[in-house]
Amino acid sequence: MDKKIETLHKKREQALASGGEARIAGQHKKGKLTARERLHFLMDEGSFQEIGMLVVHRSTDFGMEKENYPGDGVVTGYGTINGRPVYVFSQDFTIFGGSLSETHAEKICKIMDLAMQNGVPFIGLNDSGGARIQEGVVSLGGYADIFYRNTRASGVIPQLSAIMGPCAGGAVYSPAITDFILMVEHTSYMFVTGPNVVKTVTHEVVTSEELGGANTHATKSGVTHFALANEIDAIQHIKKLLSYMPQNCEETAPNLAYESKNEKRPSLNSIMPENALQPYDIREVIDEVIDEGSFLEVHKDFAPNIVVGFARLAGRSIGIVANQPAYLAGVLDRHSSTKGARFVRFCDSFNIPLLVFEDVPGFLPGTDQEWNAIITNGAKLLYAFCEATVPRITVITRKAYGGAYDVMNSKHIGADMNYAWPSAEIAVMGAKGAAEIIFKREITAAADPEAKWKEMEQLYSDKFANPYRAAERGFVDEVIEPAETRLKLIHAFKMLENKVVNVPRKKHGNIPL
Ligand code: COA
Repeated sequence: MDKKIETLHKKREQALASGGEARIAGQHKKGKLTARERLHFLMDEGSFQEIGMLVVHRSTDFGMEKENYPGDGVVTGYGTINGRPVYVFSQDFTIFGGSLSETHAEKICKIMDLAMQNGVPFIGLNDSGGARIQEGVVSLGGYADIFYRNTRASGVIPQLSAIMGPCAGGAVYSPAITDFILMVEHTSYMFVTGPNVVKTVTHEVVTSEELGGANTHATKSGVTHFALANEIDAIQHIKKLLSYMPQNCEETAPNLAYESKNEKRPSLNSIMPENALQPYDIREVIDEVIDEGSFLEVHKDFAPNIVVGFARLAGRSIGIVANQPAYLAGVLDRHSSTKGARFVRFCDSFNIPLLVFEDVPGFLPGTDQEWNAIITNGAKLLYAFCEATVPRITVITRKAYGGAYDVMNSKHIGADMNYAWPSAEIAVMGAKGAAEIIFKREITAAADPEAKWKEMEQLYSDKFANPYRAAERGFVDEVIEPAETRLKLIHAFKMLENKVVNVPRKKHGNIPL
């Protein structure tokens, strides 16, 4: 028996040696951790249990039969993060560049199936040269097996993807289907085709970093939700992100213990600028309302005219969607609409209540927006709110103009509770523009058109630049002092905690894409 145990130990050692010292040193030289080091930092100490450590590839082409490494370039298994179970894979770049073979894919699929069956989140740490070139179509089949499972798991268990090295070609589509992508600055990149192909096809000269680095995807494309300075930061972010989520769609996120204190926030009464045209940072409002320091902003640098992220209110996990008056006056455009919609749908999938702060002058006009389908993209946000069945509360801080009023979680589309601050202006448009249209004749005929315009603007403003018309109709449930916001929200979310909505029977809706 001793000999047999020795054989086992030898095999394990071989697997733990990955692609050898030289390749591990190469990985470190690039500023990257190895697959196992990443797992060491991610998982609770001693909790990780590996599955498939001794799996090897079956390829015999191009001399591959002579080169075989136990594990085949991916470490898979399960364990806990902050005491809660997760399933995880971590690609090992030191073995065939972490490329995806038939067996590598099978290992990932095995833990995905287990994650689904057990209702446990699934995490992928990606660092791979893509499809195992020596294997051809079986490798492509392996990718498709993963995409299929990602899609089946969507909305059932949270799926997170961290990109910690290359992620190119077909490899990008698994992370793209998952709920959140995190990228590491300067050492990771994602693209469908790399700089060489780009140069051949479009004659553009571009570096990997410019084409698909973390900052590019965090600011320009929105493909990644987070760009982190280094791998440890990325790993910490995964842990924090998970803390706001339930294990699966049948559960709710864990509540943190909370002791009720004085919930009034007097500083909110003076946060709004006197002049309605002046910007303010909605993050300051968010920070005052939520539990201290609990905001985890998602997509921070993409479409900053809308702010989305997770927070806690009296210990409960909530999702926040807020117009940002400090950027483009908080206008809705195609990117901000898509960003908001995706976040709303995640929260709704996983029973995370939604809080909306509204200060929106409308949709952004212009050919760029119209030709790039602001209609379809704006409809995504509208659709996402309409279909959401989680508790939904809106606080209108200032402008709620035009169609954007309807879209931003209005009562009409199923919000449970709508509050407005006294500074709210709920109207079809701003008073100046409205006066110009409806009093055009009076203004043109007046001896002093400018003065007449001002007079009419005031008239419209007195009638509509306030929350009371909407409150009279019941479209706003209560006009509140800003200082009372946190208190009101804590009560309202508590009151809504057992909300049940019966939706019509269907296969699935057809969100405008
Ligand atoms: N299939 C098989 N082996 C691969 C591979 C793949 N797709 N990608 C990388 N490798 C191997 C390399 O042969 C090399 O092996 P070695 O250690 O035995 O020399 C090792 O992984 C490291 O690759 P290397 O090219 O030296 O690393 P790099 O950091 O300089 O470059 C990439 C990384 C990903 C840019 C580069 O390897 C690459 O372009 N790979 C192919 C990408 C691709 O076209 N994939 C298929 C499309 S999905």
